[in-house]
Amino acid sequence: MTMHHLDWTHAYTARMQGASAAGSRGASRLGHVAASFAADVKAGRLPYLTMPYRAELEKELPLVLERLRSCKHMLLLGIGGSALGARALQKAFSPAQDRPNCTGRCLWIADNIDPDTLDAWLNTLPLKETAVVVVSKSGGTVETMAQYFLVRRRLQQTLGAAWKEHTVLVTDAKAGDLRAEARNESMCSLPVPDYLGGRYSVLSAVGLLPAGFLGIDAKALLDGAASVAAPLLVSESAVRDALAAHPAWHLAVWADELTAHGYSELIFFSYIPLWNYFGAWFSQLWAESLGKDGQGSMPVPAVGVTDQHSVNQMFLDGPRNKGCLFLTSDALPKGEAFGDAAPEKWSRLRDKHFGDLLQAEALGTRMALNKYGVPLVHINMRATDEHAAGKLMELCMTATILAGLIMGINPVDQPAVELGKRLADARLGAPGLTEEQRELEAFTSAAGNPAYRQQF
Ligand code: PA5
Repeated sequence: MTMHHLDWTHAYTARMQGASAAGSRGASRLGHVAASFAADVKAGRLPYLTMPYRAELEKELPLVLERLRSCKHMLLLGIGGSALGARALQKAFSPAQDRPNCTGRCLWIADNIDPDTLDAWLNTLPLKETAVVVVSKSGGTVETMAQYFLVRRRLQQTLGAAWKEHTVLVTDAKAGDLRAEARNESMCSLPVPDYLGGRYSVLSAVGLLPAGFLGIDAKALLDGAASVAAPLLVSESAVRDALAAHPAWHLAVWADELTAHGYSELIFFSYIPLWNYFGAWFSQLWAESLGKDGQGSMPVPAVGVTDQHSVNQMFLDGPRNKGCLFLTSDALPKGEAFGDAAPEKWSRLRDKHFGDLLQAEALGTRMALNKYGVPLVHINMRATDEHAAGKLMELCMTATILAGLIMGINPVDQPAVELGKRLADARLGAPGLTEEQRELEAFTSAAGNPAYRQQF
């Protein structure tokens, strides 16, 4: 099995005063975290790690994909964790759609309220060759449900009774409006297992149905993830030692130490071009899981080399509040050799390949970050196939959970974001939200005061 590396050489700066995985708040909480982790595993509350759903999914997925065999397009309706994992996998392993003359299958991910784009898709996609996949764990997310209502009507108008054959619902096994729809309309559906909230669900039907549609190797993704989880799935008495030896624990402890020493932002700097969307996936995972009780660090996705020419100045010489996860691979394609395509003045390129430039710039930027005092963990992937991606995703999810346990917060809920949803519902006239209605009126009348309005 290909092994990848975390390099900790520059992870702890002088400012962190000799902190390490062994001497930190995390270390002092290891016993407590191990107990709570073992209890969660035992109770089935960490399914992204134990994958009790795997056998069933591997049976059902091929059947659903077979139903969709004649489709060239898939339109995925979902948001947050119901979309970001699928997009990361799509961009990493099915890049043809973004390239000229694509003749293969295409995945369109509708994860915003964007009337313009939805209209464009519905007016141009050949609906007879389009599968619509609605992904919502809760089955009650307004953005996703609103898109579904519009798309369903269009499918019904265009395809008549056949509309159901083009639709798959991915949702909770028992609860929610989408599950009720699947039941009432006898529609094809796949379950999102219990305790597998959006941002931890990429390796369930949520991410693997769209991935499978694009021909991405779901088994390799799951195998990669399982190989990272396996060392932690030990007897209760061995969990403490297993955690202490696991890279996810070291990442969690490090992240906690970063915030304790004023590093309030965590850059996810990817120098694997096709994996650039892993940054957005990681950001949601990290932010929604750990931004609780005034704690956590702000994830900042960045793309190498592109962002060297945009935000890197701020990373290097802006506020000294940033740590960095720096992702590279020495197994990337080298691309074309320059040879005499490079003029004499650029002779440094002549004996190089295009890909050598990426590696040189990655090294230069990593060193520069180190010189400017940015604590940095270097993740070097020795392969960039699905197995490797499964490993990285599992590592990130586990580190996130463990960071949350060290912080003493619940890393799988997101209570603060509920407020905005309730207020939007009140604005739309949903019943039973009298207090929110009152607050909205006060807020909008204050905001309407001309004394505070400035034209430009
Ligand atoms: O990670 C999460 O739990 C959230 O971002 C959800 O994925 C997002 O809110 C969508 O929820 P649902 O899948 O229930 O529609």
